[in-house]
Amino acid sequence: MNRLYTKARRELGQLMYERRYGVRTAELIELDELGIAQEGRGYYVAASWRILRRVLSRREIGPRDVFIDFGSGMGRMVLEAARFPFGKVIGVELSGRLHEIARQNVAGTRQRLRCRDVELVQADVLDYDLPDDVTVVFFNNPFQGEVFGAVTAKLIESVDRNPRRLKVIYYNPVEEELLLGTGRFRHLRTLRHARKAALGSPFGWTHIYELTG
Ligand SMILES: C[S@@+](CC[C@H](N)C(=O)[O-])C[C@H]1O[C@@H](n2cnc3c(N)ncnc32)[C@H](O)[C@@H]1O
Repeated sequence: MNRLYTKARRELGQLMYERRYGVRTAELIELDELGIAQEGRGYYVAASWRILRRVLSRREIGPRDVFIDFGSGMGRMVLEAARFPFGKVIGVELSGRLHEIARQNVAGTRQRLRCRDVELVQADVLDYDLPDDVTVVFFNNPFQGEVFGAVTAKLIESVDRNPRRLKVIYYNPVEEELLLGTGRFRHLRTLRHARKAALGSPFGWTHIYELTG
């Protein structure tokens, strides 16, 4: 009864939030429904609305900071990041259908966003050239295995080309071993974002890392 009540309250809270901002991001969609299923790609489900506000403080973000969400789906984290004073916010999404919904979500809320430069790119992350000024990276377990390895390598190459501090926020960090195995990322913090998160499972946890040049 208690669990049902908590779940209903959470879902109602999300619905009210989406109503208030006139956006649509809350669904679970398998990637085969979108015609883009492949080994190493998971599903679409948005991260919790409040996660960025728990991880980032407005004081630490300035106009020289650039945020990117790899696998941005319907754009929930792009919208959230754009409420911070980032110089630029980028979302990269493979699915044309999700990209289009994200575009509408951003278009409908642009007036309320603090960051004026929001870019949504429809692309496979493997074909995307990471800009060398990105300072905050968000992953909500978007892909695993070789794809995750290739993106991790792009982050390292970018920081080696243009030395800087890069913060990585990894929601449900399924490929943490791969990330830490490079020897370049330092684990900074762990947050529990799901009440039922079990110790030893990556689900329900958000890990924050730092990569420096
Ligand atoms: C779990 S959802 C996260 C959505 C969003 N980041 C959020 O938290 O609201 C993962 C997303 O990654 C996308 N994705 C998977 N493989 C991808 C790839 N190779 N290139 C770009 N996007 C990809 C999926 O289509 C899906 O929308």
